[in-house]
Amino acid sequence: MKPDTKLKRKSKVILGQIAALTMFLSFLSCNKPIANRTNNLSASNRVTNLLAKMTLEEKIGQMNQYNGFWDVTGPVPVAGDAKMKYEHLRTGQVGSVLNVAGAAEVRKMQEVVVNESRLGIPLIFGLDVIHGHKTLFPIPLAEAASWDLEAIKQGARISAVEAAARGINWTFAPMVDISRDARWGRVMEGAGEDPYLGSMIAKARVEGFQGESLSDPSTIAATAKHFAAYGFAEGGRDYNTADIGTYTLYNVVLPPFKACLDAGVATFMNGFNVLNGIPATGDRFLQRDLLKGKWGFDGFIVSDWGSINEMVAHGFAADLKEAVVAAANAGCDMDMESLGYVKLLKEAVEEGRVDIAVIDEAVSRILQVKEQLGLFDDPYKYCDVDREELLVGHADHHAAALDVARRSIVLLKNDGQLLPLKKKQQGLAVIGALAADKNSPLGSWRIQSDDETAISVLEGLDKLGVDYTYEQGVRLKNGATDFIREVPINEIDTTGMAAAVELAKQSEQVIMVLGEVGFQSGEGRSRTRLGFPGLQQELLERVHEVNDNIILVVMSGRPLVLTWADKRIPAILQTWQLGTQSGHAIAETLFGDSNPSGKLPMTFPRAVGQVPIYYNHFKTGRPGPIDLVFWSHYIDESIYPLYPFGHGLSYSKFDYDDLTIDTTMASTRNLGVSVTLENTSDQDGVEIVQLYISDPFASVVRPVKELKGFQKVSLTAGEAQEVRFQLTEKDFSYYNQLGELVFEPGQFVIHLGGSSYCEHQVSVSLN
Ligand code: BGC
Repeated sequence: MKPDTKLKRKSKVILGQIAALTMFLSFLSCNKPIANRTNNLSASNRVTNLLAKMTLEEKIGQMNQYNGFWDVTGPVPVAGDAKMKYEHLRTGQVGSVLNVAGAAEVRKMQEVVVNESRLGIPLIFGLDVIHGHKTLFPIPLAEAASWDLEAIKQGARISAVEAAARGINWTFAPMVDISRDARWGRVMEGAGEDPYLGSMIAKARVEGFQGESLSDPSTIAATAKHFAAYGFAEGGRDYNTADIGTYTLYNVVLPPFKACLDAGVATFMNGFNVLNGIPATGDRFLQRDLLKGKWGFDGFIVSDWGSINEMVAHGFAADLKEAVVAAANAGCDMDMESLGYVKLLKEAVEEGRVDIAVIDEAVSRILQVKEQLGLFDDPYKYCDVDREELLVGHADHHAAALDVARRSIVLLKNDGQLLPLKKKQQGLAVIGALAADKNSPLGSWRIQSDDETAISVLEGLDKLGVDYTYEQGVRLKNGATDFIREVPINEIDTTGMAAAVELAKQSEQVIMVLGEVGFQSGEGRSRTRLGFPGLQQELLERVHEVNDNIILVVMSGRPLVLTWADKRIPAILQTWQLGTQSGHAIAETLFGDSNPSGKLPMTFPRAVGQVPIYYNHFKTGRPGPIDLVFWSHYIDESIYPLYPFGHGLSYSKFDYDDLTIDTTMASTRNLGVSVTLENTSDQDGVEIVQLYISDPFASVVRPVKELKGFQKVSLTAGEAQEVRFQLTEKDFSYYNQLGELVFEPGQFVIHLGGSSYCEHQVSVSLN
C-alpha cells in the first residue's frame, strides 16, 4: 500500500499550482449538491483486498484513535502513553490521530505509518474544527442566529479550506444536538432548540465541510455528533443523563442527525450520555439498528473521548473489557482515547464475545472513508506547506467571517429607536472589560486559533473613527483562562468601579459591554446562574443610577437572563461571541453601517427556574390563567420567556399583510402559503419570515407550534414583496412511537410572522 512516488510528486505539483484557486473553486462548488452516500455499505475493491491482507491486530489498529500527545481536549493521557503510542504507529495499531495540526507535523506522523508500518495504511487526522480553524467565525449558536444557510455553509467551507491546508482531513463537527437548556455550556456549539432550523443548519454545515467531493483536497470529512440526545443532559449539567420519551427522540433529537445523513456526512460520533438507561456509546438500537440499519448509514461511528471506558463508571460494564465488547457489538467502529480496542478487542474476538464480522465491518467502513478522502492515492495531499502558507488566515476568509458576524447579531430591544447611534456624537462612554477583550469574542472550541486575535469592540469603534472614553469598570477574570481549566472570575476586586460610574455621570450616552468570558461556555461549562458573571451586574446597576441612557452589548455563549436589564435599559444588542472579526461587526451595527437581522435560535428565559424553556412545548391540561392557583404556572414568575425563539428586531420596520392559503392542491396535502411583507421604514433591511404550523387536536399531543419554513427577505426602504412558502404532507406529519412518519387528517393552523410569537394565522382542513 505504499503510494506511487511519481503520483505523489505529480499531485504535489498540481496542488501547488491550484493552491491559489482552491478557495475560490471550493466557494463555487459548495453550492452544488453532493452525492448521497446513504446506500448500503459497499466497500471498494481496494478496501476489500486490503482487508483480506490484514491481521486481526492490524484491523483493530484501524479502529484505534489516539490523541496527538501534546494537545488535549479531555483528561490528559497517562504518563508513558506517548512512547507507547509512537510504537503503535509503527506497528500499524493506529487508524487515526486527533489534535495534530500543521502540514509539516501531519506529514511527519503520516510518514511513520506509511513508510514504517507493514501495510502503510494512511492515518486520518481528526480535529474539532467547530467554528473556524485560524480564522474564527461566530460560535455555532451565533451563526445559527443568522438563519442564513448560505453564509453558514460558507463558514464551514472556509473552515475546511483552512483546516485541510493544515493537514486535517476530518472534523468532529457539526454538533447537531438540540438543546433547550441554557445552563448547558455546549449550547454554544449547536444550532439551538429547534429541530427544523437545526436540520437545515446541519445540512448546510455538512455540505460546507465536505463540499462536492471528499477527494477534493480542500474538503474534510464531517461528523454528526453526539448521537444521540446529549443536549438533553438533566439539569443542564454536562455529561449527565438524558431521559426523554419517544416523541421527543424521533421528532426533536433525531431529525438534525438524519439531515446530516441525507447530506452525505462521512462519520457519526456517539456521546458521553446515558439515554433512557443505556450509554449512547453502547447503544445497539441507536447505532446498529437505527443508524446503520434502518437509515443505511455507510460511514463509520467514532466514540467520544474515552466514552467507551466511561461505560464502566456508568455501571453499564464491569470493566474496560466488557465496555469494549458492548461498544463494538453496538456498532461503535472507532475508539477515541479509551485505549480499550487496542488493548482488549483481540482477546474479546478470540473468546468469541465479538464476532470477526463486527471487526471486518468496522474496518471496512473506516478504510472506505480513507479511500473517499483519496488518502490511499496520496497520503500527503493535505500536507502542502505552500498551500498552508497561502490559505490559512487569507484576507477573503476574514471578510467572510465579518459578513457572518454582522448577520449573527440580534437586536433584542430598541426603545425609542435609540440605535443606531450617530458617529459624530459627543460624550460617549464605553464601559466593561469585554469591550477591550481580544480573546473572549473568539469563544470556546478554538483549539488551533491564536490568542488575542479577535478585533475588540474598542478596535471596531476606532476603525469607524468614533470618539469615546473607555473605562473597564471591573476586571472580569482573575487570571488567565484556557480551554481545559475553570475560568477564574473576579468576584471581589471593585477597583475601577468608581471611575466608571464617574465617567458615566459625565457622559451623554453609555455603551456597556457585558457578558461571559470566552471559555465560560463550551464543554464542561455548565452554569446554574445565568446572569452576568462576577461584578458586572453591580457595575450595570451603579452606572444606571447615574445615567440610564445605556446601550447594552451582551457577549455570551448562551442565552443569559437579562430580565433586570430588559426592564430598565432602552437598547440591548445580543452579540454572542462573533469570532475574529467581532469588534468590527459590533461597531458597524451600533452605528448603523450594518442593520441587524439575526433572530434567536434559543429562547431567552426570564429566570433560570423556567429552564428548560422552549417555544415548541406541549399543551398542558391547565393552560390558564384562572383566578385560582390551580393552573400550570409559577407563583413568582411569568411562564413566558423574556425573548422568544425567533425574536430579533431591525432598524427597519416590517409589516405583514394578506396571509393567504392556496388550497388548490390541498387534496394532495400540498399547500401554497403567501404573505405580503412591507418595509415601512426609511432603512433598507432584512427580515426573516417564519412559518409555523400547529395541530390543535390529534391522536397524540402535538406542540403548540412547530417551525416548518423560513425565508430571509431583503427589502429596500418602502418596498413590499409577496413571500411564498410551499408546504407538503411531511410538514403536517409527526413521528409516532415506532419512528414512523404519520399524517393525521384534520384541521391545522398556519402561523406567520417575524418570531415564534407570530400574530398572523389561518386555519386549513386537510384530508
Ligand atoms: C467532545 C467531543 C470532541 C472530542 C474530541 C470530547 O470531549 O465531547 O465533542 O469532538 O472531545 O476533542
